[in-house]
Amino acid sequence: MQISYVSSLLHNSQVSKYHETHDKSNIKAAKVSVSIITSHIRPSRCGTIAFVCIVAFIFTIFFHKKENMAHLFEPLTVRGITLRNRIGVSPMCMYSYSDGFSNDWQVIHLGARAAGGAGLVISEATAVEPRGRITPFDVGLWSDAHIESLARMTRVVKSNGAVAGVQLAHAGRKASTARPWENGKPILPDNPQGWSVIGPSPLAFNEEFSIPHELSLAEIKEVQESFRLATRRALAAGFEWLELHAAHGYLIHSFYSPLSNQRTDQYGESFENRIRFLLETVQTVRLEWPEHLPLTVRISGTDWVDGGWSMTDSVELARRLKAEGVDLIDCSSGGNAAQAKIPVGPGYQVPISEAVKRGANILTATVGLITDPLQADEIIRNGQADVVLLGREMLRNPYWALHAAQALKQAASVPPQYLRAF
Ligand SMILES: Cc1cc2nc3c(=O)[nH]c(=O)nc-3n(C[C@H](O)[C@H](O)[C@H](O)COP(=O)(O)O)c2cc1C
Repeated sequence: MQISYVSSLLHNSQVSKYHETHDKSNIKAAKVSVSIITSHIRPSRCGTIAFVCIVAFIFTIFFHKKENMAHLFEPLTVRGITLRNRIGVSPMCMYSYSDGFSNDWQVIHLGARAAGGAGLVISEATAVEPRGRITPFDVGLWSDAHIESLARMTRVVKSNGAVAGVQLAHAGRKASTARPWENGKPILPDNPQGWSVIGPSPLAFNEEFSIPHELSLAEIKEVQESFRLATRRALAAGFEWLELHAAHGYLIHSFYSPLSNQRTDQYGESFENRIRFLLETVQTVRLEWPEHLPLTVRISGTDWVDGGWSMTDSVELARRLKAEGVDLIDCSSGGNAAQAKIPVGPGYQVPISEAVKRGANILTATVGLITDPLQADEIIRNGQADVVLLGREMLRNPYWALHAAQALKQAASVPPQYLRAF
């Protein structure tokens, strides 16, 4: 922990250096072009051309600044949707529902964070089928009956100025557990509260979990159909931002990671085959989700295990996802290997976002121990991510975005009822 904290600080200072160096190199480039041009001209025209060069020099600096102007409070438009700022509430399970129906808790929880100034509010992992829940208390979209309770929540989020996002999920081999505050352990299928779990291969997450049923080709199509139907329902419920949960060792991640996928058919072995389940799911969902709305995918950028899924794999995956119409990659990590040693520290997943953003030329979100407004702003200004998601910090402080606006001297979207407090 100590080491990772230090390495993260090092990283942050490298970030500032990067910014400085980038600035300096651009100014140097402008100076060089001015001197090259002036060295090739006749003295008689010198005055005019020198004037043109000075104007060009000023323009170079101006446009360079403009290119780097994105900051935490600059709106972001993705397809037909505009976030009022780059701050998002990371999806966080509340395990507080009965039969998958949203309720007052979700309305107050997410509504408060919309009123608290976040641009994007992504609701928690929302199960596309009952056996895709992490616990029996997860929210879901596996039937039309679920639409209305979620619509109530999205109306509150939107009327408070945020974009309402949904995270469609299937927990795969990590499904059927108790709530974290009720020991969080797997509930085995012979317990009336539990169920049989599924996965690409009959490999349990660890010795406490049950061995998943290996999906047949026909069953794979059935799960993908559940994602399609849940997408249609998410639209009906008023969501305007869709994230597929392909991280943290859940079903989709367990297909693309070599640690959990031992199939020998078209869904296993090679990189091409292991990402097939995700790519097909994206294709299915993209057809159902309107063209004008953003489609995003949360990935685990690395398994943090030798021989597991790597950042290089993630960059290539992101390129393929972009070609399928995915607009943004939400870069998380880990969750598929119980033995993984994760170097947790402030902003520890930012390098994943940066690598994916630069390598695949796609919008990214970053998440993980981002708590400070300056830290969040610098991530955006340095072009390491386009959206900063906050998890636990948002649980502690629903008004984080309003405080961040004050700290960064930006206009805050303070609800008029609260103006006397800000
Ligand atoms: C209570 C809680 C529930 C979470 N549920 C989800 C979830 O439903 N889907 C998901 O992708 N990540 C989930 N996460 C992970 C967060 O979205 C986030 O990636 C992680 O907490 C790291 O960010 P932080 O350091 O800002 O908390 C959850 C985290 C917490 C604390």
